[in-house]
Amino acid sequence: MHLSRRRLLYGSAGVAAVSVAGCSAGEESAQLTGFTGISMPMTFSERWVIEGEYLQDHLEGLGYRVLLEYADNDPEIQVEQIQAMVDAGVEFLIIAAVDNRSLGSVLAEAKDKGVTIIAYDRLILDTPDVDYYVSFDNYEVGVLQAKHIISRLGLEEDDDAGPFNVELFSGSLDDSNSEYFFLGGLDTLERYTYEGRINIVSQDTEQARTATQGWDGAVAEKRMTKLLEDHYGDEPLHAVLSPYDGISRGIVDALAEADYRPGSDDFPIITGQDAEAASVKDIRDETGQTQTVFKDTRSLADVAISMVTAIMDGDSPEVNDLGTYNNGFKFVPAFLLEPVSVDRSNWEEVLIDSGYLAEETVDEAEG
Ligand code: BGC
Repeated sequence: MHLSRRRLLYGSAGVAAVSVAGCSAGEESAQLTGFTGISMPMTFSERWVIEGEYLQDHLEGLGYRVLLEYADNDPEIQVEQIQAMVDAGVEFLIIAAVDNRSLGSVLAEAKDKGVTIIAYDRLILDTPDVDYYVSFDNYEVGVLQAKHIISRLGLEEDDDAGPFNVELFSGSLDDSNSEYFFLGGLDTLERYTYEGRINIVSQDTEQARTATQGWDGAVAEKRMTKLLEDHYGDEPLHAVLSPYDGISRGIVDALAEADYRPGSDDFPIITGQDAEAASVKDIRDETGQTQTVFKDTRSLADVAISMVTAIMDGDSPEVNDLGTYNNGFKFVPAFLLEPVSVDRSNWEEVLIDSGYLAEETVDEAEG
């Protein structure tokens, strides 16, 4: 394992909330109407649908005009949609990028027109034109996933536990979050791989070899099937580090197809992210993955909305991190929230009691 947290350019990020001047803040705000373009990546990952609607409802509730588009996971479609928003005269753009490097020219045009650009959840790279970044501590997401594996394998309590066989999956390479998730997981498992108590049997430890293009569960299912065929004829597989629930369900399908029985003692521990209803059902009923990472997207949307309203009020948006997220041009002023690990012990309290998911939604979910 050669990758390290340092590669992520972690700086001396302060945690205290601070304000930095927004490009459109100040005197100009008098002319602003709050017209906002929301550009979301796709609809097959549940969270973007929930957030798109939440952002739209709340911004419209404040009396602002809103354009909301989903890009069908296609970078070119997203550029076209953002271009149409800029042409329509939006003053704010809230963007969760499909491909973090494909937006430079449309954002340059938006910036020329004085649009405030907020990178939503996913950092936008290689452009000076991003004003703010709102997200979760993405490295910590990977840490929480790895800690679930470590805890469920009993590696911490018992120095003699192991060796265990583990495989690693990561997200789409065009999403800069993927690297943060992956390194958080890898760094946390490193002590045990070094001690020989965790074996990555396939030896696929490079991000590129573990990546899942488009965050597509079917792509992950295929890779898992191949890994089982190539390396797990007689070897047991004990755990899979998976970055996202849709990928986790693809992995579960591959395992079930290979006669692993979800819920049985020898079914691997499998992580996830996003608390999608179908995955929460699997966690609850022990029919698939064993963990997910919950990121309260209502809070994330609220932060983005508060940035818009701050600028509308002539104030500077609040940020709490100035030194972690370098997009190739600058450290983008960011507001980061904390992710929460969810398993069978706390899913109800964290997801149902908080009103994030209705129990019926979980009951009715299909994987
Ligand atoms: C998000 C995750 C999500 C993934 C797939 C990432 O950028 O941070 O929450 O699971 O995209 O949609």
